[in-house]
Amino acid sequence: MNILHVSCSPRGQASESYRLSQSVMGHLLKSHPTAVITNRVLGAGGIAHVDENYAISQQSLEDIAQDGSFIQSEALINELESADVLVISTPMHNFTVPSALKVWIDHIARVRRTFNVGAQGKTPMLRDRPVFVAIASGGRFSGERARQPDFLTPYLKAVLNMIGLHDLNIFTVEGTALGPDAIAEARSRTDQALLAHFQHHEAQ
Ligand SMILES: Cc1cc2nc3c(=O)[nH]c(=O)nc-3n(C[C@H](O)[C@H](O)[C@H](O)COP(=O)(O)O)c2cc1C
Repeated sequence: MNILHVSCSPRGQASESYRLSQSVMGHLLKSHPTAVITNRVLGAGGIAHVDENYAISQQSLEDIAQDGSFIQSEALINELESADVLVISTPMHNFTVPSALKVWIDHIARVRRTFNVGAQGKTPMLRDRPVFVAIASGGRFSGERARQPDFLTPYLKAVLNMIGLHDLNIFTVEGTALGPDAIAEARSRTDQALLAHFQHHEAQ
């Protein structure tokens, strides 16, 4: 089994979302101990924004180039296609995905390669596979105590669905800015949710 881990926090391995992803990974490795992990570290950036020819191609009937962003895009899509499981660890930035993750999405959501456009709208081209999303946020964005909008999870669902990834499993540690008690509570609640998820799947 191949696991692709796309990590998106500028805080790297010290980040809460990375920590959560390691719990997810721990569960995955329990049932697949020989799994091969590919780490795509986006962190504080590193992937350039898409270039002009890529942008023109996205609105054209054919690709007008094969160089520049297409090379980066192809490498990232190949990496994704080789994965049996995708793990995304990400903070919430300004109610949505951090820009580093958005740049990755701009490269992997490519017309004629991972989705098509027709009279019925957009149709996915990728084979479905489980996706685990590990999100950390300073405040809460779900449940009764949420005090902010969430454009992150609906956006990720929509864009991953567009390319064919429907089996989304989202876990969050919310409230990292609310003090140690809030963090401890959030971590423990998420650990329980993770355990329940994997026990349920192992039982099937
Ligand atoms: C640029 C930026 C924007 C942020 N925007 C939000 C936000 O909209 N909502 C929120 O709850 N936390 C926000 N935060 C706080 C982070 O989500 C929080 O610190 C989270 O724990 C970071 O996750 P990490 O440890 O995985 O990097 C923001 C942080 C940064 C740096």
